[in-house]
Amino acid sequence: MKSFKLALVGATGVVGRAAQKVLEEKNLPISEYAFFASKKSAGSKINFLGKEYIVRELDEHSFDEGFDFAIFSAGAGTAKKYAPIAAEHGCIVVDNSSAFRMDKDIPLVVPEVNPEEIKNNHGIIANPNCSTIQAVVALKPLDDKYTIKRIVYSTYQAVSGAGRDGIDDLENGIKNFKEGQDINVAESNKYDLKKFPYPIFNNCLPHIDVFLDNGYTKEEMKMINETRKILGKPDLAITATTVRVPVLNSHSESINVEFENEFDINELKDLLSKSQDIVLVDDINEEKYPLATSATGQDNVLVGRVRRDYSIKNGLNFWCVADNIRKGAASNAVQIVEKLIEMKS
Ligand code: A2P
Repeated sequence: MKSFKLALVGATGVVGRAAQKVLEEKNLPISEYAFFASKKSAGSKINFLGKEYIVRELDEHSFDEGFDFAIFSAGAGTAKKYAPIAAEHGCIVVDNSSAFRMDKDIPLVVPEVNPEEIKNNHGIIANPNCSTIQAVVALKPLDDKYTIKRIVYSTYQAVSGAGRDGIDDLENGIKNFKEGQDINVAESNKYDLKKFPYPIFNNCLPHIDVFLDNGYTKEEMKMINETRKILGKPDLAITATTVRVPVLNSHSESINVEFENEFDINELKDLLSKSQDIVLVDDINEEKYPLATSATGQDNVLVGRVRRDYSIKNGLNFWCVADNIRKGAASNAVQIVEKLIEMKS
């Protein structure tokens, strides 16, 4: 069997570490690995699949030695600079940042939804935004059967999506609270915040990524535009409100959908429960519904609270939860590499 060579860029970050874990679990036919980060962590050690690796500083020559695949989780700036260099050297890059997602010549892929796009790559494949990935996994089978007319997203997003600094802001906030500091003051300097403009502990911040001229945040527009691209419906009516909440890991989403076609609620639930990588957790009599704490550590998308929206014709509400670092980033990227390996083997 053919064996491959893979580079992990941003190996020391939150997503990079999760990607290491997922790669260890899957143990793909990859014979050589290399781990890259910035100058800051170059020289540090990584234990991976029973072997010790030294983290290398990423530079213009990192891809000279010839990699088959690279997973990038080092932000948009790094991706814009280095992913084209990797691609020029024959490496296929799966990039987790927003750098290339809306580029019309670059596939934006969720393997459960549009795997056919993978073959259209010219050396770079974009991994969608975390909140979009879990939503489209749940929406795709519904769209295929009932045809989506409009979507309203409301998200409750974990701090791990903001990287190590986001996690530190929540942990420091909890520590400050325990030490008796006044938490009801939104003065960022008081809490040494690294990532968020206000304390995230004891708060919900309706502000993820930067604000845009149209009044939306960039995160909201990512959900809108990326959903359209992945579902292949450029004009689909979608609106979104994205909110950061004091949860360590796994994003929760309230999704309201209006369909063109009528549906039977039990058939719809049955369809969801049989769809790839969706787990229906929906038993209100037993108080069972998806939780962030249940989603963390797995790659499935949990769906529950599935019920009719009686305020409109053919309307549906549901609750959707997934591990934003795994399925929302690392696992989705590794699943794309897995498909590339299948195609090349
Ligand atoms: P480093 O640890 O050396 O800073 P997170 O999103 O969790 O903050 O992680 C970001 C990841 O991207 C880290 O692994 C970080 O490495 C890496 N990174 C940031 N800037 C660069 C860069 N210019 N070149 C390579 N890796 C980078």
